[in-house]
Amino acid sequence: MWFGHSVGAWLLVAFLPNSADPQILRPTPAPEDRLPACAACRMLADEFLRGLEKTQRSKYEGGDAAYERERGMRYEDSEVRLIEAQEAMCVENKKHSNQCRDLKEEHESLLEDWYNTRRKEDPKSLFTFLCVEQLLVCCQKGYFGFDCRPCAGGAELPCSGHGTCRGSGTRKGNGTCKCHSGYQGEICNQCSKGFYFNGTTNGCEACDQSCETCREWGPKGCVVCNEGYSHTQEWGCSDIDECLFADDSPCKGNTFCVNYDGGFHCLDCDRTCDGCYADGPESCIKCATGFVLAKGVCVLAKQINVQQTLTRWAVYLGLVVCTMIISKKSVTLCSLIGLCVAMYIGASEYTTGAWDDFNFQQFLRSFAG
Ligand SMILES: *[C@@H]1O[C@H](CO)[C@@H](O)[C@H](O)[C@H]1NC(C)=O
Ligand SMILES: *[C@@H]1O[C@H](CO)[C@@H](O)[C@H](O)[C@H]1NC(C)=O
Repeated sequence: MWFGHSVGAWLLVAFLPNSADPQILRPTPAPEDRLPACAACRMLADEFLRGLEKTQRSKYEGGDAAYERERGMRYEDSEVRLIEAQEAMCVENKKHSNQCRDLKEEHESLLEDWYNTRRKEDPKSLFTFLCVEQLLVCCQKGYFGFDCRPCAGGAELPCSGHGTCRGSGTRKGNGTCKCHSGYQGEICNQCSKGFYFNGTTNGCEACDQSCETCREWGPKGCVVCNEGYSHTQEWGCSDIDECLFADDSPCKGNTFCVNYDGGFHCLDCDRTCDGCYADGPESCIKCATGFVLAKGVCVLAKQINVQQTLTRWAVYLGLVVCTMIISKKSVTLCSLIGLCVAMYIGASEYTTGAWDDFNFQQFLRSFAG
């Protein structure tokens, strides 16, 4: 029973705040970003035209003919259509629906004015009437600023067609040009550095990557070569192979040089190397300390010593066993073979450098002294 009560109390506590405070359940809608004045006006005009389009094929309820006779007006030009068109506005526009509805209410009478007058002469004149002439928030394309002056380079083709005019079509901005990539100058009629004018495309095109500046297409069109390239009569600007001379490599320390178009990389040598001319343990110039050269590859010194010592002593053991077997048959032969074995061991120890460790001279001196 106690358990039942406590579960009930828990449920109550868990759900009470939600039901008591409905605001927690309903998230507040994100505030919609508001369009700037001219764009907002353009939206209003577009929405109204869309509303008119939707009502284009509508009719009076109860038949057109009777209504027309009564009021002397066709549905097409009627108050009823105006109201229906306005009702259809800002419905599909989700992103700026609040701003749209606010503007619609604010400028209802202007919309009505245009509907009753200018619309019949020129159905496309709404934007100009509403946004340029009445609300003074926009200019025609190619004009800018509060008094709608022509953009830099002229209203016909602002910025020579190679840039955007700041404020074009609005009452804002200063009419200067923001040139597209490759263009510069006040009205974007010059090519930027690293571009040349191409008469075929009638525009500025990027120079070859080997050029810093150029007069035409390709590495032969360069005027000045880019860094990492040098000029040749035959090829124009061509890549400098910085890695060509190993003795004079630009890569220092335990690195090697790799050339690419316009430059070079210094890549790390294998860790077994002390200097190298390519990647991998087989490309060392010298072995790093603790490594020795074996079959053209630098390997750990300890590794090779253990391996060599093991094989060496295995061979010696084999020879001694052979000698022991033979010694049972002939003493002379045995002595001869024994001598050979001793000589072999001596010789091979000498060539592998084991004498260094053993230090034969000291050994002899210890006998003498
Ligand atoms: C025009 O406006 C742009 C950006 O708003 C600004 O960078 C530029 O300096 C202005 N130019 C002039 C001449 O005022
Ligand atoms: C212009 O561009 C075209 C195509 O990229 C090229 O074939 C032609 O050589 C260019 N003209 C000049 C003068 O570089």
